[in-house]
Amino acid sequence: MAETLEVDVAIVGSGLAGLRAAIEAARTSNGKLSVGVFTKTQVMRSHSVSAEGGTAAVLYPEEGDSFQSHMYDTVKGSDFLADQDAVELLVKKAPEEILQLERWGMPWARRPDGKIAQRFFGGQSYPRACFAEDKVGFFEMSTLYDTALKWDCITFYPEWVVTSILTDGKRFVGITAIEMKTGDFHAVKAKSCVMATGGAGRLYSFATYGYSSTPDGLVMAYRAGAALKDMEFVQFHPTGLVPSGILITEAARSEGGILLNAKGERFLKRYAPERLEMAPRDIVSRAMYTEILEGRGFEGEEGMKYLHLDLTQIGAEKLKTRLAGIREICMKLAGIDPISEPIPVRPVAHYFMGGIDVNIMGKTGLEGLWAAGEVACVSINGANRLGSNSTTECLVWGALTGRQAAEYAMRNGVRELPKEKVEGEEKRIFDGLLGKAPRENPYDVRNELQQTMERRCHIFRDEAGLLEGLREIKALRERLYKGVADSSRIYNTNLVNVLELENMIEVSEVIVISALNRQESRGAHARTDYPRRDDVNFLKHTLAYYTVEGPKLEYISPTITEYLPTERKY
Ligand code: FUM
Repeated sequence: MAETLEVDVAIVGSGLAGLRAAIEAARTSNGKLSVGVFTKTQVMRSHSVSAEGGTAAVLYPEEGDSFQSHMYDTVKGSDFLADQDAVELLVKKAPEEILQLERWGMPWARRPDGKIAQRFFGGQSYPRACFAEDKVGFFEMSTLYDTALKWDCITFYPEWVVTSILTDGKRFVGITAIEMKTGDFHAVKAKSCVMATGGAGRLYSFATYGYSSTPDGLVMAYRAGAALKDMEFVQFHPTGLVPSGILITEAARSEGGILLNAKGERFLKRYAPERLEMAPRDIVSRAMYTEILEGRGFEGEEGMKYLHLDLTQIGAEKLKTRLAGIREICMKLAGIDPISEPIPVRPVAHYFMGGIDVNIMGKTGLEGLWAAGEVACVSINGANRLGSNSTTECLVWGALTGRQAAEYAMRNGVRELPKEKVEGEEKRIFDGLLGKAPRENPYDVRNELQQTMERRCHIFRDEAGLLEGLREIKALRERLYKGVADSSRIYNTNLVNVLELENMIEVSEVIVISALNRQESRGAHARTDYPRRDDVNFLKHTLAYYTVEGPKLEYISPTITEYLPTERKY
């Protein structure tokens, strides 16, 4: 029988967006509401700690930067699919979040005049990424976690795997979760909820994401009736370290690093002659992939082709102070000291522009449920996100959604949980899975799924490949006999991995079907069979709704307030 627990505001996920939301919910209610943060990892293992390079905000308008410029860069970077009212909100709220973090203890890097230092990021026309070495996520997470711990009303539930969102049909009423330590199954009543479970990059094998980045939050919301928006837009960051896929921050290029092919050419001159390595990620990654496909890459020992990122001209002093983290990563994981040698890199799955469909305030279609950060699609990123905007988005919409979830909880009571749904969920997980030896090793199925996504739904796509990908995903779904040999309830990580795998298959299908139906090329979605952007037919967001037969797609127009689409040149 499920144990029942009650909180006023439930936050699912403990990365930047989740922590920021929890603090704001506590502040809004002056500590009166109970705020529960449910997270399948330990808090400081949330993937946000891996953010490296920076958080964008306009801090010095008197020196030449402006909201207008940040807004235009973001909209142009998005290939004009971003909702421009949301982008305006992002850029206007960003500076207060930077200063708020500063007041909570964030050790931002400084300029010689003592003010917060900023660096360039791709597609941004002003150096507006605030940073702390190349460990921005770690320091931001520490600052928020330390702040959250000061609020008695915030309770952390680490290693609680949330399995479903409960509704009464149109309103959020609670969640179900497995507590790993005891194996107990819990039904949690809450008045409101913020989903902040992050991205789903582990659908790909070569990814910058932590192993926990699976699409659990996306699927819970999708199954509960919320739409998934723009899932076809997956960002490939240009520089994943070969062979591990660990992120080599864009800051390495902003500090002076250059990309070279096997002929020693600085090939970006041919693809983005003005911005070169500081062009947006979709353009740089496509250029790199083209170089590799056309035979101008290096061949690694494991057959993984790559290019060179040459940081030698940055100089030892700067590499040791501003890029110490990636230097250590290169030395430990590739055996190379970037002070003296170029490092092997290739594009790597890094970010999902799509997510749970929310309005400009982060509200989903279900009353009482908000979503923030990478799991949500507001949409400020459209078809391609600019580097350094995502941590900003987490902070801005973490704060906005936390406040609204608290205000809602102050106005509303808890509702009865749907008993049959709680029982059904417990049965699905424990009676349905535990102690039943699977016919196939789920880890093989997971690996094959990742290979399918790598082969069929990567930087370049076409109809034949996507159709083949869809066929493979459906076959993997059939092969996933749902069982877990280990019948123990305590710390059954195999059970969690099987639940994750079901979610991975569900979302991969949505991504591939959304990609098949978008018969154009826009931002990170490059169709070789439809190489042009088609604003007449596809200046639209894709919405995918759950049905038992598979996703049902609808389209809505983006909000355009200031900038009509033009050709993107860098
Ligand atoms: O390259 C980076 O440091 C990544 C930053 C981002 O994704 O915003």
